[in-house]
Amino acid sequence: MANNEIKVGILGLGKYLPDSIMTNADLERMVDTSDEWIMERTGIKERRIARDDEATSDLALAAAQNALKNAKMKASDLDMIIVATITPDMFFPSTACILQKRLNIDNIPAFDINVACSGFIYGLALADQFIKTGTYKRVLVVGAEKMSSVTDWSDRSTCVLMGDGAGAAILGEVKEGGILSVHIGADGSKGDLLKMPAGGSRMPASIESVQSKLHYLKMQGNELFRHAVKIMADAAKKATEPLGLKGEDINLVIPHQANIRILNAVAKRMGIDPEKKLYLNIAKYGNMSAASSAVALTEAVEEGRIKKGDIILLDAFGAGLTWGAIVIKW
Ligand code: ACO
Repeated sequence: MANNEIKVGILGLGKYLPDSIMTNADLERMVDTSDEWIMERTGIKERRIARDDEATSDLALAAAQNALKNAKMKASDLDMIIVATITPDMFFPSTACILQKRLNIDNIPAFDINVACSGFIYGLALADQFIKTGTYKRVLVVGAEKMSSVTDWSDRSTCVLMGDGAGAAILGEVKEGGILSVHIGADGSKGDLLKMPAGGSRMPASIESVQSKLHYLKMQGNELFRHAVKIMADAAKKATEPLGLKGEDINLVIPHQANIRILNAVAKRMGIDPEKKLYLNIAKYGNMSAASSAVALTEAVEEGRIKKGDIILLDAFGAGLTWGAIVIKW
């Protein structure tokens, strides 16, 4: 039976960004683009690129270790591991199971969720449920992506957007505050707007699928842009309205870092001042899919942008299409 008395909050946060920086100037040498176009249309200045020998679980491990340190906990204190990723090390075993082994723990449930950029929020939503019901006490949620591994570096419309990285949170019971509301959703009818067509059972890898570049991310950017603004604004509303919260009640919005124009448009719809209440790190990292919100939350705390008692809204959308918004009292 659910124990409604248990309040679930974040006990620790961590991040990991690969060292290698790819700037817009680097991209100018690879495709027909310009720093000016990328900055004006997306707000991205540079992004991190993992090494060839670094896989998603390596990024996830470093972020998880940093979160454990931040929470002053040992890996053996964890009860469950959730990894949100669309760029797993391999189809199976899951990246969460690989991570569990790398953390030297066993016998706790570990699984991946494939929700693209909304993954970290879906992960927090799952952790919230397991802890609230008293099933588990401490859950590790990681958003980790090596987007560079599914990026077509000859396609200027997508290669300028993505980056690699990982962020992690450990959730558990808190005495005050914590997660106040959660809204998650999906609309599979718009799945074609963003997908990686080959490599699954529909189109297994073949010489033709590789030659046709179907193992890369394919995106209808324009159409996605249109939906993204509405989806993120609606998700924010669904998470805040039941609490009676308005734009002015929210101290900081931590959005999925997809495109600065999308985020400014969402802020406008929410009636918040983007200069003061929208947390952005897109210029440094681009879109890291499931890792974006996790890294943004970690950096917002590191930079002192979030204080005890603040009301925080996490808001994301991604391939699927999927979306999620969470209100947390810090
Ligand atoms: N450099 C220069 N020109 C470019 C580039 C580039 N990198 N990319 C596209 N262009 C050109 C196009 O070819 C087009 O030229 P044309 O008018 O001669 O045909 C022109 O710029 C305008 O192209 P649009 O696609 O209309 O540009 P737009 O302003 O829509 O910006 C963008 C494109 C940045 C992709 C935008 O549509 C966007 O951000 N969409 C949302 C993407 C998104 O959020 N994706 C994340 C999903 S999250 C997940 O799950 C991974």
